[in-house]
Amino acid sequence: MGAPSTPDPYQAIAQLGAAPLWRYFGDVLPAQPKPKAVPYLWRYAALRPYLHHFLETCSLEEAERRVLMLVNPELTEPPATTTSLYAGLQIIGPGETAQAHRHTSNAFRYVIEGTGAYTTVNGERVHMHPGDLLMTPGWHWHDHEHEGDAPMIWLDALDYPITNAFDANFFELYGERTQKSTVPDDLSSRQFIHGQLSPAWAVPHTSSSPVGNYPWAETSRAFDAIADDAVGSEVEGIILEYKNPLTGGPVVPTMSCRISRLRPGFRGARTRRTTSAIYHVVRGTGTALVGDQHLDWTDKDVFAVPPWADFELRNDSGTEDAFLFSWTNEPVLRALGFLREELPERGSQS
Ligand SMILES: [Fe+2]
Repeated sequence: MGAPSTPDPYQAIAQLGAAPLWRYFGDVLPAQPKPKAVPYLWRYAALRPYLHHFLETCSLEEAERRVLMLVNPELTEPPATTTSLYAGLQIIGPGETAQAHRHTSNAFRYVIEGTGAYTTVNGERVHMHPGDLLMTPGWHWHDHEHEGDAPMIWLDALDYPITNAFDANFFELYGERTQKSTVPDDLSSRQFIHGQLSPAWAVPHTSSSPVGNYPWAETSRAFDAIADDAVGSEVEGIILEYKNPLTGGPVVPTMSCRISRLRPGFRGARTRRTTSAIYHVVRGTGTALVGDQHLDWTDKDVFAVPPWADFELRNDSGTEDAFLFSWTNEPVLRALGFLREELPERGSQS
């Protein structure tokens, strides 16, 4: 049997659901990562007035959760912040609630402004204060209620680009708008706050942290316990990772959450990693050199670092510390054998 007589064999095989590998080789097996995501910085001072605008003009009936997604210019359909991570800014007004739901994607929030709101996670009310990290691992019921007298703003984070890459997300409404409290408020944080003294009877029901809140007060104490002359990481200064107390691993299976303190004048070593990362400036002023971009960051800004982009952090103040909260998809890359890091001074490490 000879070759088919179709005029364009490429078109013919396309109609048969086939494609010539030789025309796609560099796309499907690139010599090095070629992320669509670009380095980008979201200016908090510029976005904050719009959060308040929508608080006043957009009802909860319309928005349900009043969130401004932080969309990477090259990741708009669907919107995402980096290839595998998402961040948004949420505002909630006094007396408002966000209805209870759960989803497969892991989520957390980092509190930026205000007090008086709590998130109820599987029946536990977890109260929110600036600098707190609140966990909502995958498939945990969660809703928000705000009993304070001024708006609150927090950073929302989800791993839905990862979940959706596998078409593995499920979503469900609770049925009632909010959950009832079934355990003492902030119980999980108080039980696990004592470091090496964790409840011995606790058994992990999931691979995620059982802690509802990692409060700023404890983060601050952890920094205070570190010697003033400690060098820390040459890339990210005095950097601490929030841990799952039952496993010693990351807080959720897909994301590692960290906070770093950059001493005055800190200038980090330039590196590049296969991780995606998002940074939130808790306070301070500095520069992130990401690829060919100079991102000048200040209080409460957010910036994205795509995979395999040259990366260098600087604290531009000569007198004040800078604090950066950040998260990456490192646990996923580590589990899959995709984690690679390069420090130019030392050559490649993996
Ligand atoms: Fe949610």
